[in-house]
Amino acid sequence: MKKISIAIDGPAAAGKSTIAKLVARNLNYTYIDTGAMYRCVAYCALKNHVNFDDETGVSALLKNIDIRMLPDGTIHLNQEDVTSLIRENEVSMGASLVSKYQAVREFLVDKQREMAQGGGVILDGRDIGTVVLKDAELKIYQIASIECRAMRRHKENMERGIASDLEAIKAEIALRDEQDMTRKISPLKKADDAIEIDTSDMTLDEVVAHVMNLVAQRV
Ligand code: C5P
Repeated sequence: MKKISIAIDGPAAAGKSTIAKLVARNLNYTYIDTGAMYRCVAYCALKNHVNFDDETGVSALLKNIDIRMLPDGTIHLNQEDVTSLIRENEVSMGASLVSKYQAVREFLVDKQREMAQGGGVILDGRDIGTVVLKDAELKIYQIASIECRAMRRHKENMERGIASDLEAIKAEIALRDEQDMTRKISPLKKADDAIEIDTSDMTLDEVVAHVMNLVAQRV
């Protein structure tokens, strides 16, 4: 069967990675979480006491950044397992701030294209269908209402035993979306040829089935 490339873009906490992982497992495809790569750059800035607003400082870090996404799903930055560290709130906001810099985007987009070579991949992020994989055979723009996205994240936090404030989550998501949609380079937007899926009133199984159906029409 033909191995295609799948792009999933959309706003923060829309469940893109959950869907991408399940679809990748069904198809035996490689899943690439591009948001995790921006998070690694932000984490590296934090660790080296470089301010997120310091474009020159953040850009200078790139030459010493080695990001590895291992088959077991863990993410290593310069040989440190940062899988859970990059999920901290401070890193989420930092990722959104450093992702507006041209040097950061060029560095990571090159890596993402290299990793996606040959097809049989699902990438999720903000600019996959518009920039990274413009020729992807299937492009999805996954959205959900802000209430729904914040509530899902809140429940996830509570299940993991992490202190969680629904209104704070809503504000953080809204701010990150605003930054991601209004930045000059590669802002978040739906590619002209992307299929929009509003998951607000859909179950996980329904979304996965829908995506699998779209894949079946293309292989
Ligand atoms: O997807 P996730 O929420 O982990 O991404 C963290 C941040 O990284 C986003 O808010 C966005 O600013 C940035 N990002 C990006 N382009 C991508 C993926 C993520 O700018 N392809």
